[in-house]
Amino acid sequence: MVPEKPARYGGEPIRDEVLGYGGQSITEREKEAVVEALEGDYITRGPTVTEFEERVADLVGVEHAIATTSGTTALHLAGEAAGFGPGDEVITTPLTFVSTAHAATYTGATPVFADIDPHRRTLDPDAVRDQITDDTVGLVPMHYAGHPADIEGLLEVADEQDLTVIWDACHAFGGTWEGEPIGAQRDLAIFSFHPVKSVTTGEGGMVVTDDDDLAARIRRLRSFDMSYDPDGHEEEPWYQVAEGVGYNYNVTDIQAALGLTQLDRLDDFKRRRDEIIEQYDEAFAEIDGIRTPPQAANADPLYHLYAIEVSEEFGCDCKEFVNAMHAENIGVQVHYVPLHFHPLFQDRYGYTEGDFPATERVYERIVSLPFFPEMDSSDVRNVVQAIDRLHQYHAE
Ligand SMILES: Cc1ncc(COP(=O)(O)O)c(C=O)c1O
Repeated sequence: MVPEKPARYGGEPIRDEVLGYGGQSITEREKEAVVEALEGDYITRGPTVTEFEERVADLVGVEHAIATTSGTTALHLAGEAAGFGPGDEVITTPLTFVSTAHAATYTGATPVFADIDPHRRTLDPDAVRDQITDDTVGLVPMHYAGHPADIEGLLEVADEQDLTVIWDACHAFGGTWEGEPIGAQRDLAIFSFHPVKSVTTGEGGMVVTDDDDLAARIRRLRSFDMSYDPDGHEEEPWYQVAEGVGYNYNVTDIQAALGLTQLDRLDDFKRRRDEIIEQYDEAFAEIDGIRTPPQAANADPLYHLYAIEVSEEFGCDCKEFVNAMHAENIGVQVHYVPLHFHPLFQDRYGYTEGDFPATERVYERIVSLPFFPEMDSSDVRNVVQAIDRLHQYHAE
């Protein structure tokens, strides 16, 4: 029995325990795999990391996969390997997590924002064209929520201008576009294995590419930029020397063991996420003022977020909606505060609110509902009930 008034206006919360918007699924198999890795010889980066990389390369259909400590460090290595640097401009979306822009900022290049296509919520190729200058060297599109960006349109712009493309595919691991895995498109793509993502290693990331030189550069940068067998030192097995300023972005066999077990469950994760989408889509079809997420054409995404848009007809604005859902103990989230609102990009690069109208219109309305494989049908029902009664309350 659902009490009448929403909790924000004096009723009882629909749930006693908070339902988060995302989260991992860990079974006994994952735990056993991690313990087994702990009993191995390496603990740190060893054969299990190599196996994890090979499985991801296979799954994405690329030559190389290089595991890193996070999606953020994957973006750093990809940007540096791509040769971005001071004086260069790299175009990206403002509707993303801050790390996407760091493929540029970490290297000293300037991140340049271009507005989004509000339907897909991803970079609009024409808006990208408008931002191109003689200094533009790269593009970092992001597949928002797992829905592919306009891959064809963006590659066309990249071809016209000879730009290096790094696809931020943190939301899109395990999906396909035009029958091809997302992440297989040139030049590089990166994934995150944070616990809210479709597959997790605790923290972790991956760079994928078909380019042998980029892959070799990334492997070196990941691990101190060391040469482990410099010419002329064949009889000195200890002789390892740094040839540049590298990093320690090595992942551990423990994380890779977790990742491998998660990959075994990828189809189950997708099936469950697709079921939840169907239940949500059906429930919200009749509610005024809720736009359900766009369905991708010619693609079979593994969606990461279920992000609705709440408009005036619903009865309250997005801020009220979020606070009302939190009062029901339902942990909705907003992805994202546009990057041109952040002090970093305003103070350093001169962006201001008002610069990207399509992004800002979407930001005013967008809310991510709880969406992860471990949600059961009563969790889904709670979300629907809470939205339903909030709508009814405001309709009166
Ligand atoms: C679009 C996007 N890019 C980059 C990242 C950074 O990934 P990580 O948290 O693994 O560093 C995230 C994840 O939070 C993300 O959602």
